[in-house]
Amino acid sequence: MAIISTAGLARTFRTRHGPVQAVRGIDLTVREGEILGFLGPNGAGKTTTLRMLTTLLPPTGGAATVAGCDLAKDPAGVRRACGYVAQSGGVDPQITVREELVTQGRLYRLPKAVAAERAGELARELDLTGLLDRRCGALSGGQRRRLDIAMALTHRPKVLFLDEPTTGLDPGSRAGLWELVRGLRDRYGTTVFLTTHYLDEADALADRLVIVDRGVVAAEGTPAALKLAYGGSADATLQDTFLAITGRGPAPADAAPVAV
Ligand SMILES: Nc1ncnc2c1ncn2[C@@H]1O[C@H](COP(=O)(O)OP(=O)(O)O)[C@@H](O)[C@H]1O
Ligand SMILES: [Mg+2]
Repeated sequence: MAIISTAGLARTFRTRHGPVQAVRGIDLTVREGEILGFLGPNGAGKTTTLRMLTTLLPPTGGAATVAGCDLAKDPAGVRRACGYVAQSGGVDPQITVREELVTQGRLYRLPKAVAAERAGELARELDLTGLLDRRCGALSGGQRRRLDIAMALTHRPKVLFLDEPTTGLDPGSRAGLWELVRGLRDRYGTTVFLTTHYLDEADALADRLVIVDRGVVAAEGTPAALKLAYGGSADATLQDTFLAITGRGPAPADAAPVAV
């Protein structure tokens, strides 16, 4: 079953220097429980797409549904279904991990006792229990990322959007996040829609990849199928495959999008 489906989803920004077509028409579907890797060069339109799908930014064209809710007609339903961790997650350095988690629960209108209980559950799931009384400003990069994700999971969303969740993390913390993402999917059936610049990460973690370039989908498929179709063989690296797809590798730059 498709939990996310978009048709011609587009966003043009008006700027002083004229219109910027950040997303020119994205068509994609994501199955429930899938881990989708959403890849593309800088400026391809990834963050803009995530912001539209989470209702933070109104599209200027096209349509989408998330968990059966239409983006335009039922934005509140979409918000209930989504958790979102922005590219530069923001937490208040002065308050403690517990306060941050409880406040988030209160924002989602959980009664105080329930918010406190949920904070404890999330801390256990994200391995933050020993850090509940630490100030957020004192967390390491990996701990901070886990807190960002815990906050996005407060309302138990069906779909979790993660925008470059592992950028800047050390290899150990990255591996920890991969386990966490897999665990969420395996235990709760959470659908995970993530962007990353680490192609080894996409290869290891994602069931399927959607590669965007200049605001449109350039290719999609499993990592293995994409390697075969664009990298020349199933043994190709995802790096070479990606370069081929985005027009800066061996394949012609104007190759038509192919679904594999
Ligand atoms: N608020 C904005 N105003 C004008 N241009 C923007 C705005 N947000 C993003 N853009 C432009 O849209 C394009 C896509 O940006 P973005 O979605 O952040 O790409 P990505 O996340 O793939 O790196 C870029 O050219 C970016 O400069
Ligand atoms: Mg981005």
